[in-house]
Amino acid sequence: MVRSPCSRLGRAGEIAIGKGQARLVRFEDVAARYGQGPDVLTGLSFELAPGSFHFLTGPSGAGKSTLLRLLYLALKPVGGTIHLFDRDVATIARSELPAIRRRIGVVFQDFRLISHLSALDNVALPLRVAGAREAQVHDHVAELLSWVGLADHLEDLPPTLSGGQQQRIAIARAVIGRPSLLLADEPTGNVDDRIALRLMYLFEELNKVGTTVVIATHNDALVARFPHPQLHLEDGRLYRIPGRPLAKRVRAGE
Ligand SMILES: Nc1ncnc2c1ncn2[C@@H]1O[C@H](COP(=O)(O)OP(=O)(O)O)[C@@H](O)[C@H]1O
Ligand SMILES: [Mg+2]
Repeated sequence: MVRSPCSRLGRAGEIAIGKGQARLVRFEDVAARYGQGPDVLTGLSFELAPGSFHFLTGPSGAGKSTLLRLLYLALKPVGGTIHLFDRDVATIARSELPAIRRRIGVVFQDFRLISHLSALDNVALPLRVAGAREAQVHDHVAELLSWVGLADHLEDLPPTLSGGQQQRIAIARAVIGRPSLLLADEPTGNVDDRIALRLMYLFEELNKVGTTVVIATHNDALVARFPHPQLHLEDGRLYRIPGRPLAKRVRAGE
């Protein structure tokens, strides 16, 4: 069994979730569109239990990134209600957004790294913002970056690295703060199979210590190998595809 640094991190979401434990995420009849364009998503209803792990699948253009944007509060629904951490997001004040966003780790498809900060400083940023002690920050970040295969690139600036290396920095930054909810948009899109597996183990370890995980992907091989349940988007509608039992899972290294 491959152990990632996350296995020692303790439980996620230690900030009280309170009553929200029962429904970390709840969508009721949600619709989304951009500007005056057509509805991209309509009639979306689903719940995510705390500690669950879902793939978000569907063809290109089906609305996977749009659904993730709704989840990290970058896009307002044009219909229906979204509950996140037991709050109706329509009632969340702008001033509350930073605190709520700190509980969500996001791996953006285009990484969004800060180009003048080193790999180490990019990943350390969420910890420093949260007031972590500097003595712990360096070792913790260096260990995680080593685990994703970037031990030799701690001081490198993102623009000098490959797409796959930048993607791993983005993933490390998203998981370093042990978020309650991890949202990853095609997080293995730029890496080879070996690294993709390693990243999946990292997500699974994080999930085991309590983080709820949603991974948008169109990598069928990955979904077949890690048979978590799927939220499948097609033609603007959402279908739930159950996962296969753990016992039947095939995992490398086990
Ligand atoms: N910023 C945007 N402005 C206008 N339309 C958008 C924007 N982002 C996505 N769309 C449209 O919304 C639909 C769903 O896109 P997206 O959520 O990116 O799908 P996926 O991630 O599954 O490929 C597509 O028709 C796309 O063209
Ligand atoms: Mg997308």
